[in-house]
Amino acid sequence: MKFQRVLAQGIRGLYAGWLSSAKLVRSICIVLLSFLLQGCTKPSIREPVTLTLLEEWSNEAFSEARQQELQQFTRETGIRVSLLPSPDSARQRLVLWRELLGTGASGPDVYGIDVIWPGMLSEYFLDLKPYFANEVSLQFPAMAAGYVVDNKLVAMAYRADIGLLYYRTDLLRQYGYREPPKTWDELEIMAARIQAGERAKGKKQFWGFVWQGAADEGLTCDALEWQAAEGGGRIIEQDKTISVNNPQAIRAWQRAARWVGSISPPSVVGYREWDSLNVWIAGDAAFMRHWPSAYFDSQAAGSAIRNKFNTALLPGGREGRVGTLGGWGLAVSKFSPHPREALELVRYLIRRDVQVQRFRVLSLPPTLSELYNLPELREPNPRFDILNQAFRTGMVLRPSNVTGKKYQEVTDAYIQAVHSVLTGQKSAPEAAAALENELVRTTGFKKGPPLAKSAHSE
Ligand code: GLC
Repeated sequence: MKFQRVLAQGIRGLYAGWLSSAKLVRSICIVLLSFLLQGCTKPSIREPVTLTLLEEWSNEAFSEARQQELQQFTRETGIRVSLLPSPDSARQRLVLWRELLGTGASGPDVYGIDVIWPGMLSEYFLDLKPYFANEVSLQFPAMAAGYVVDNKLVAMAYRADIGLLYYRTDLLRQYGYREPPKTWDELEIMAARIQAGERAKGKKQFWGFVWQGAADEGLTCDALEWQAAEGGGRIIEQDKTISVNNPQAIRAWQRAARWVGSISPPSVVGYREWDSLNVWIAGDAAFMRHWPSAYFDSQAAGSAIRNKFNTALLPGGREGRVGTLGGWGLAVSKFSPHPREALELVRYLIRRDVQVQRFRVLSLPPTLSELYNLPELREPNPRFDILNQAFRTGMVLRPSNVTGKKYQEVTDAYIQAVHSVLTGQKSAPEAAAALENELVRTTGFKKGPPLAKSAHSE
């Protein structure tokens, strides 16, 4: 059986090679084995259905809260759900998802998929349009559009993500700043001053600004924000112009390269989301770029900065303040033996009340635009207005829709180019020119300048 082969491979190489935690490896193997065994034994007619859900959770506290959501679903429907843990790195997740779907065997029933994946994975999932036409019309249009490929609704958006700036309210006050930085120039100045001050007080590990500089998808998100804010475009524009080799993008990369070792740790070029979050919640940074989900850990009981931080729009440049649109949708595997139940699970997870509760408990932003006007969410959570503003006026989209199946090659090339500038291996003009040629070869699109306004607003 092909699926067993993948599982065996997973145990030998796939997981072991790329998962940092042995515990995680064990738990993935156990869950995979358990549904493999489920498939081998013939269920009696009365036995309740157990669905398998694979999405991006890799954090225990988060999964616990998530389990409660799923238990509620089981209470309502009698359908059980087993939640698989996932690798930490965005690229490793895609490898695992592809491996499982590629077997053609009944693996997980419902998959969480990143907003940039539909073009690459569309063939493996059911078209959700006939089931969710109403629900789609209530979502932020740009978010919902991300999951449509050739008129097929590959997944239902169920959590929205956008790049945000986290800042320390206590330190800003101490250093005489009344508000967070509005521009990247201001951020540099503030970060340097606070860093120097904290170090002088003996906090030798303290850094001004942490972000995601590892050669992974997080870097595409961060670097796109730097360049789009300066009018440096979105790598490949909506009209299929390869625009990445332009002076604004080059300057934005050069600036970030100067941060490495000055306001950001030298090791930031190896940071994924978790690495930056760990420095931040230890109280060792003044600013952090992250997703809204980082709020949960920052406010958790063990966090050194609980109640000492806030979120803001990312700083801007000549074209404004933008955050990269991220997010996850739910897709139903076309190999699922339980499509009816799987659709029911998706319907539950995107339900209005479940999204409201998910924001309250886990701080995960809803995808229904109407919820952003809800006084019961806005009033106790002033940060909700920041999210609202970001989703309505300040997001930039990665070029996944225009590149479809080629997106992974495009983002890999971009990541390598930017990373080589951050690590000083290449100059920014050299890296941008080589990247432009590589993207022409990969996509067959033409070169050209960025569109006048690359940032997306509703
Ligand atoms: C978050 C975003 C996702 C992005 C990933 C990068 O999970 O929701 O869209 O690709 O981070 O690490």
